Amino acid sequence: MRGFQAIVLAAGLGTRMRSKLPKAVHEICGKPMITLVLDALEAAGAEGSFVVVGHLAELVEEVVGDRAVCILQSEQKGTGHAVMQAEDALSGYEGPVVVAAGDAAYLSEADLRSLVNHHQETKASATILSSILENPYGYGRVVREASGQIRRIVEDKDCSPEEALICEVNSSVYCFEKRVLFDALSRITPDNVQGEYYLTDVIEVMIQEGFRVEAVVSEDPLAAQGINTRCQLAEAERIYRDRIRERLMLSGVTMVDPETTFVDFDVVIRQDTTILPFSVIQGKTVIGEDCTIGPFARIVDSKVSSGATISNAVVIEAEVGKDVSVGPYAYLRSGTVLAERAKIGTFVEIKKSTVGKGSKVPHQSYLGDATVGEGVNIGAGAITCNYDGFHKYPTIISDEAFVGSNANLVAPVKLGKGAYVAAGSTITQDVPEGALGIGRGQQRNIQGWAARRLEERKKSGSIED
Ligand code: UD1
Ligand code: CA
Repeated sequence: MRGFQAIVLAAGLGTRMRSKLPKAVHEICGKPMITLVLDALEAAGAEGSFVVVGHLAELVEEVVGDRAVCILQSEQKGTGHAVMQAEDALSGYEGPVVVAAGDAAYLSEADLRSLVNHHQETKASATILSSILENPYGYGRVVREASGQIRRIVEDKDCSPEEALICEVNSSVYCFEKRVLFDALSRITPDNVQGEYYLTDVIEVMIQEGFRVEAVVSEDPLAAQGINTRCQLAEAERIYRDRIRERLMLSGVTMVDPETTFVDFDVVIRQDTTILPFSVIQGKTVIGEDCTIGPFARIVDSKVSSGATISNAVVIEAEVGKDVSVGPYAYLRSGTVLAERAKIGTFVEIKKSTVGKGSKVPHQSYLGDATVGEGVNIGAGAITCNYDGFHKYPTIISDEAFVGSNANLVAPVKLGKGAYVAAGSTITQDVPEGALGIGRGQQRNIQGWAARRLEERKKSGSIED
């Protein structure tokens, strides 16, 4: 197959999305729509890609990064006008150019390859990727002669009643010979219902000038579908989510209820891990072998090592070590690192803290900016006081330390190796290695207090029978 250059159109207003964001950056299973299009183009062998940006260009450029050269279309005068903007960028190039709409979210490598191959084999000047839709409403129709030869593409809004019945629709993905494309673009006019320069109009211009135009009909009815509305966005999410789940299950992941298991594109889950219902695994999360995740777990951009158990928890940008147990009802925030066999229990929140091997934080604790060594036990309700309203301070809890229940460790503070903190203490000074830190009022017991109180009340008549 010959190499090709690609132009992706992503300058439009995306009016039908009713969004403050440009359409191209809306995500499907964690991937911006335009990234899906670029992925397919790269997989099919695009040698270089250009993205036409306009409406909120910076946001699209940020997502595109260095994967393509962005070209500005400062006024959005239609898809044809958008392609015209790429002429200078392609000035030194001769050969096939694939043009794709930035909302062609279902574009596949296979369809692209057959498009470019067919284009090449038939020596066409333009080849359209089309597909057959039961309900072609809203799409450009591929109008053919009785002989089957393509005549033109007509936009939905410009269709005659007969044309409206045509079920073969334009996917807005094409392969063009570059020179013929830009020559034809210079001849189109915005003489249509929307007053725009339609890219689709180059087809008729080319045919009238005697160039060969072909179409490849995709067997996938989704191929032609763009994402114009939030409803179509949700449908794409559903379709891709299904594919992701299927891929993972076939690779050895158990999903007890796939319908309530939501996994983003870039997530890696290894063999013999079980995902229990109502779990959401997002971003660049990697989950090792033999883990049990869920029910009700949300894990974002985190690394979970083999054998870990995470139930009813929210885990964001954290590292969960081998055989660690998290939850139920735990919240691991950014910068949390749990070494192997650590145990994080119920109603525990941890932020930007390291917990060493085999250490336990089993009940109702908050650790922030803490470094916890190995074999530490943190009692129920013990917390770090890491913030004074202005700054955050570190807490160091050395190996084998034991923090009694409901202790407040006021940072900056350090507990030495094997140090103890008495339950209920508010610790404001370091506790040396092996020492016991007690920071609480001395208890005194007042004998007979309850009976005397009752007596006094009775005397003053303040007790009702
Ligand atoms: C387009 C096709 C239609 C096809 C459908 C398939 C045209 C005229 N129509 O219609 O035949 O069936 O896709 O999904 O091409 N854009 C720009 N600059 C502009 C206008 C649009 O960059 O000035 C971009 C948009 O951001 C979008 C893409 O071009 O990514 C397609 O535009 P859109 O408005 O979605 O076209 P459709 O009406 O869906
Ligand atoms: Ca569209």
